[in-house]
Amino acid sequence: MRTYSSRSSRVPLRSSSPSDLSSQDVIPKKRPLAERLAFHNTLQPVKRARRTIAASVSAPISKTGPRPNGSKVKPRNGRKGKEDRPPKGRAALTQLHFALDSSVLRTCPLCDLTYTKGAPEDETLHRSHCARVRRGMQWRRDDERATADAQVSEIATGVKLKDGKSGRVISINAEAGGKLGSKLSTLLHTISLHLSSPPLTRDVLRVSKVYLFLLPSDRSLPCEIIAGCAIATHITTAMAIASPAEVQGQGQGSATERSTEASPLPPATARLVSVDTNSSLFCRPEPLSTPMGIPRVFVPSAFQRRGIALRLLDAAAATFVHGCPLNPRRGEVAFTQPTASGKALMEKWGGRGVRIYQE
Ligand SMILES: CC(C)(COP(=O)(O)OP(=O)(O)OC[C@H]1O[C@@H](n2cnc3c(N)ncnc32)[C@H](O)[C@@H]1OP(=O)(O)O)[C@@H](O)C(=O)NCCC(=O)NCCS
Ligand SMILES: [Zn+2]
Repeated sequence: MRTYSSRSSRVPLRSSSPSDLSSQDVIPKKRPLAERLAFHNTLQPVKRARRTIAASVSAPISKTGPRPNGSKVKPRNGRKGKEDRPPKGRAALTQLHFALDSSVLRTCPLCDLTYTKGAPEDETLHRSHCARVRRGMQWRRDDERATADAQVSEIATGVKLKDGKSGRVISINAEAGGKLGSKLSTLLHTISLHLSSPPLTRDVLRVSKVYLFLLPSDRSLPCEIIAGCAIATHITTAMAIASPAEVQGQGQGSATERSTEASPLPPATARLVSVDTNSSLFCRPEPLSTPMGIPRVFVPSAFQRRGIALRLLDAAAATFVHGCPLNPRRGEVAFTQPTASGKALMEKWGGRGVRIYQE
C-alpha cells in the first residue's frame, strides 16, 4: 500500500558521503527487535515494490494505521471479552458507528495506486498518474531548444529495441527550469510516487543528469513519448555486494569464523549490511570510492522488457563523467536499494559488480 503519509513518515536517507559510510552509519538509531536479534545491519528501504496513493484531499490512509473514522478492527473470532459484556439485568446497548467503509478505497490493478473511489480529485489524480505509469508522457522536441539551461544533449539516435522499433536517448541537466523543467518535475514526481520513494533533494538534483529514452509517437503526433528514464547522480562511495559464499558464512573473515566460545555465535551475515532480506541481498559495509549512482530508473509498463532500461544505463555509464566511460562490472556504478525488477535489471547489466549506496 502506498500513501503520501507513509512516504513522509519514512526516515529520510542520506547520500553517501565521501568518508563516513559504514555499517554502523546506515543502521537507524532505533532498530526493530527482530532486526537486533537477527544481528543484521539493515539498510533503510527507500523504494518499495508496492505502493499506495492517497489523494491530497483525503485523510492519510494506511492499511495498518488508524482508520479514518477512528473505529477499531473487531477481533476475528467475534467473541467479546469480560469487560465488554453488559452487566446482568441491564439491556444491552448497541454501539452505533458512523463508519467510512474502507471499500471506497480502490487499488488500481494497472498502476497499483490506492485512492478514494468517488472523490473527484482522487479519481482525476489517479487517471493522470495511471496513464503516465502505463503509457509514458509526451515530449516535444521544440522544448529542448526553448530551455537554455537544460543542456540537452543527444546521446544516441536510431537505438534499436527488441521489438524492432527505434528511438533516441538524450540527457538533460536535472535542474533545468522553464517548460522542460516542469515536465521533468512531473516525471520525477510520477516515478517517486510509483516507487513510494521520497523526492530527490535539490542537492542530489544539482549533481544529476536525467537520461530519457524517446520513441516516436504511434499516433503521428508532432511529439515523442518518454519511454524510459534513468537518473544518474554523482556519489562518492558505495558498498560492494557480498558474494553468496560470504552470505552463507564461508567467506573469508566471516563473523562465524571469528567468533569464540565466550561470545554467542552471531550469524555469518553479522558484519554485512542487509539491503533486502527477501532477496538475501547483502553488502560489505566498507565504503568504496564510486563515481556514479542510479537513484531512479523507470520504464512505463507498455514499454517494459524491450531493453530500454539497459540502453539508458549504458548511455549514463558512457557519458556521465565526461571522457571517462564507467564500467558497472568493475564496481564503478551503484544503485540505491533496488526493487525486485530493479535488482534483476541491475544483475543483468553489471552482474555482481554493481554496488549499493544509501540515498
Ligand atoms: C526495472 C525496470 C526499469 C526495467 O525496465 P525494462 O526496460 O523493462 O528493462 P529491460 O528490458 O532493459 O530489461 C533488461 C533485463 O533486466 C531483467 N529484468 C528487467 N525487468 C525484469 C523483471 N520485471 N523481472 C525479471 N527480470 C527483469 C531481465 O534480465 C531483462 O532482460 P530480458 O528481458 O532479456 O530477460 C522497469 O521494470 C520498471 O520501471 N519498473 C518499475 C520501477 C522500478 O522498479 N524501478 C527500479 C528501481 S531500482
Ligand atoms: Zn491505475
